[in-house]
Amino acid sequence: MDEFNSLPKGSLFCFGLGFTCARLARRVQELSWAAAGTRRHVESPDREGEGIPVHAFSGLAPMERAAEILANVTHIVASIPPGEHGDPILRFHEADLRSLPNLQWVGYLSTPAVYGDRQGAIVHEDDEPNPGSVRGARRLAAERAWVSAFDGTGVSVQVFRLSGIYGPGRNALEQLRAGTARIINKPGQVFNRIHVDDIGTILMASMARPSHGRIYNVADDEACASGDVICYAAELLGMEPPAPIPYNSAELSPMARSFYAECKRLDTGRIRTELGVELAYPTYREGLRRILDDMEAAA
Ligand SMILES: NC(=O)c1ccc[n+]([C@@H]2O[C@H](COP(=O)([O-])OP(=O)(O)OC[C@H]3O[C@@H](n4cnc5c(N)ncnc54)[C@H](OP(=O)(O)O)[C@@H]3O)[C@@H](O)[C@H]2O)c1
Repeated sequence: MDEFNSLPKGSLFCFGLGFTCARLARRVQELSWAAAGTRRHVESPDREGEGIPVHAFSGLAPMERAAEILANVTHIVASIPPGEHGDPILRFHEADLRSLPNLQWVGYLSTPAVYGDRQGAIVHEDDEPNPGSVRGARRLAAERAWVSAFDGTGVSVQVFRLSGIYGPGRNALEQLRAGTARIINKPGQVFNRIHVDDIGTILMASMARPSHGRIYNVADDEACASGDVICYAAELLGMEPPAPIPYNSAELSPMARSFYAECKRLDTGRIRTELGVELAYPTYREGLRRILDDMEAAA
């Protein structure tokens, strides 16, 4: 993070101050950056008392006072999924964003669904996308719209294709304790994961090394079945894992079903060679052990 620390202090704005962005916002605040963002429903002007200013953006209408709120922003993370009308941020604020005087860098948070099913093969960022779902097709269109919106402007837009996100507050240990952990058994189906703090490290490394239009796979080093993670978490907790549920008879949301319908392993060489990132949590094992240690220390 030496490179990031040497950047002039910036002002980060996250469209979609959810799990990943709230964690990133707190991290840059600790380094004396300004940080703020949006949620659909704003109960208090400070995200859950965490000291991050939050503004309402429903995705269905423009954010109120956008020009004033965004005036000094230098860095933007777009973390809102596209819908049937495309990317809601560009839909309502593309012109506002293009006119920001200090904007330098945009990170678009995407998904490996843009690759479609690869039947377990390794996928590299230069492989031609081939979405097999509406979700993946919308994402690919949104990725392209963000990059082309800033072509020739001097603002650098990067695309991050994130694998399954976990971290403190969203993980298999807490699912097991809450009784909500499920093992969906689809033989041969594997996917990568990524710890939320490794995403933050990758985004900050990219801010230090902008590259307009560049795509990064954001994933750990070990694609595996969902059951492997649940069983490992159960072992750490000294619990019995739940019985596997066959994929064909599992009750799944349309989003989860489209997710399990595909299988791929992400190549992650680029985040290392171009961004100089070493993952703090190269597999779910390091990540879950650290989360458990922190949970026990806090108990
Ligand atoms: N979770 C994963 O494993 C995974 C994997 C790959 C990619 N992704 C994508 O990566 C991004 C970050 O993931 P995350 O898990 O950190 O996200 P998250 O916690 O679900 O947060 C998403 C944020 O976007 C806001 N939002 C969602 N739909 C919106 C809409 N239609 N209009 C306006 N705001 C909307 C949410 O508002 P509220 O705060 O009001 O809910 C929330 O602040 C997301 O785009 C996600 O789809 C996630």
